[in-house]
Amino acid sequence: MPSLLERYASFLPITDRTPRITLGEGATPLVRSLWLERETGIDEVWLKCEGANPTGSFKDRGMVVAVAKALETGSRAVLCASTGNTAASAAAYAARAGLPCTVVLPAGYVAVGKLVQAIAFGARIVAVRGAFDAALAIVRELGESGEATLVNSINPHRIEGQKTAALEICEALGDAPDALFIPVGNAGNITAYWRGFTQAHDAGIARSKPRLYGFQAEGAAPIVRGMPVADPRTVATAIRIGAPASWAGAVRARDESGGAIEAVSDEEIMDAYREVARHDGVFCEPASAAAIAGLRKRASVRATKDTRRAVCVLTGNGLKDPDTARSLAGELLEVDATADAVRRALALA
Ligand code: F0G
Repeated sequence: MPSLLERYASFLPITDRTPRITLGEGATPLVRSLWLERETGIDEVWLKCEGANPTGSFKDRGMVVAVAKALETGSRAVLCASTGNTAASAAAYAARAGLPCTVVLPAGYVAVGKLVQAIAFGARIVAVRGAFDAALAIVRELGESGEATLVNSINPHRIEGQKTAALEICEALGDAPDALFIPVGNAGNITAYWRGFTQAHDAGIARSKPRLYGFQAEGAAPIVRGMPVADPRTVATAIRIGAPASWAGAVRARDESGGAIEAVSDEEIMDAYREVARHDGVFCEPASAAAIAGLRKRASVRATKDTRRAVCVLTGNGLKDPDTARSLAGELLEVDATADAVRRALALA
């Protein structure tokens, strides 16, 4: 399979001189959810499983472009702020490119799987006592010296790469879906999808464009509230963001597509997180489940009655956040290693 940079060269800002680096990003599975079709009454519900990317999240699509362009322009290092996934992805692609990588994280609010990835890939890691928004402000300032290339989604190459997921969806379905459901944190991804769907339409890959429905966590919903949130709170640490950098892009995606940006509660997120794993065998991280929670919420008030075909973007792999997954169960049953003891334990379980 050609790499993402090769497959989508004509849609991306790359030249003959851009190194064609790859870790096998993109071409992720689109899995049908029979469970959500039954529950919502929508004819077709598809899950775009971005957790299947090399570092386990959608960030790899944008990072491969951002790091390739950094190499092309002679950059000597990369730098980012992150709730975890951007850090894991930046660290991996920087390692591949032979560039040092620095990541600035909100102390205490990065899922352990993401942190260990950044460690494994050899990033320099600094945790700050503040939320993602403070970390982003810091790296913006550090980036001004020009020593390291900033690879947050304010780097336009990130958005360009991430839009390829929308192109893949249109190719797989033969058209755009009627509606796309997606979590919103720093708001780069919803911005990227809208660009991707618009370009798919212009290129004749899709006859229509979808309505985009973005979902923030109730305790971290600045776009829904119309003002920044100083102390964002949610179990979905990936989208624990109070002042999204791509706010304007998200609003444009919402308004131009005729969609909406709404809030879902932590309870709704956790319920969707558990249920999609149990019914569909798809294990995503809590932030990703916000998309499913949002779809279920809209369907419950019949706000999806004009939707025949929906796609939920599952942005990250459930293994990223083992602590949250483990918290769903109590102590494991532990017994003597005999069939009898196991049989007795199962009778009680
Ligand atoms: N889902 C996951 C799993 C994420 O990691 C993020 C963002 C989002 C959704 C939201 O995407 O920011 O483009 O609106 N994670 C960033 C990070 C902030 O640092 O890894 P967005």
